[in-house]
Amino acid sequence: MDSKIAKADAAHEKLHSRKRKKDSSERKVGNEIFDKITLETLYKLANQGFIDVLNGAISTGKEANVLTGIRDDESFVAVKIYRIATSDFKKMDYYLKGDPRFNVKTKNKRKIIYSWVTKEFKNLTRLYDAGVTVPKPFTSSNNVLIIEFIGDEDRNPAQPVKNQPPKNPDEFFNKLLVQLKLFVREAKLVHGDLSNYNILNLNEEPVIIDVSQSVVLDNPISKELLERDINTLVREYTKLGVETNFKEIWEYVDPKF
Ligand SMILES: Nc1ncnc2c1ncn2[C@@H]1O[C@H](COP(=O)(O)OP(=O)(O)OP(=O)(O)O)[C@@H](O)[C@H]1O
Ligand SMILES: [Mg+2]
Repeated sequence: MDSKIAKADAAHEKLHSRKRKKDSSERKVGNEIFDKITLETLYKLANQGFIDVLNGAISTGKEANVLTGIRDDESFVAVKIYRIATSDFKKMDYYLKGDPRFNVKTKNKRKIIYSWVTKEFKNLTRLYDAGVTVPKPFTSSNNVLIIEFIGDEDRNPAQPVKNQPPKNPDEFFNKLLVQLKLFVREAKLVHGDLSNYNILNLNEEPVIIDVSQSVVLDNPISKELLERDINTLVREYTKLGVETNFKEIWEYVDPKF
């Protein structure tokens, strides 16, 4: 038998044997996300060596599921799978339109999602190369994105700041501002959905995630999005006891619009 097919079959078997062990709620999620194209995409990625086994859900969101993947060498990756059925195409279309890197004229939902995933991958690459603490992107294909697993030494996934507030909010916030400045000034992107839901607390270091909607500074909506992001940070970090305000952050970031 062709070794690639054999490997895909093995991956298939592993996927399913793991799935069988899951409780009923997880099985329900599994059935919902593992449609034919998603499975084919995962087999292809397994053949290419990006994942060997899918092992459990980290998060089940509105539009995407994030799972842990294990590679042949036992290392972990995070596998983000967008569900075709429940994605917000209007939102995707809006953010894709203003981006000169993506000329999406299609109304085909599947193609819009694929562009969306490519956009997240490209944004992550640009941020990672600019030195922002984001998960390292490995690959993307169709509706599946494979990125660095952000977790502690015991391989527990890092929690969003919303669920795990920093021990020292002032210190954490200062580190976050350094990242925000790199984000805007070096990567020349605006996050667009920056909040403590999309900032992970990895051993008291901020790791920014969920950059599919992030836009280039040239995008006409970037200024408004940055204003919104900064207002969100002011609100959330004031609640955590940090003394800050919009003007101070704006001047520190100095976006030069
Ligand atoms: N690289 C990663 N390593 C560990 N955990 C991760 C990683 N990426 C995401 N997660 C976990 O998955 C959750 C959802 O990820 P993300 O914010 O990227 O998806 P989402 O777009 O918000 O999904 P939805 O909009 O459908 O809710 C995060 O809050 C985090 O707990
Ligand atoms: Mg999110």
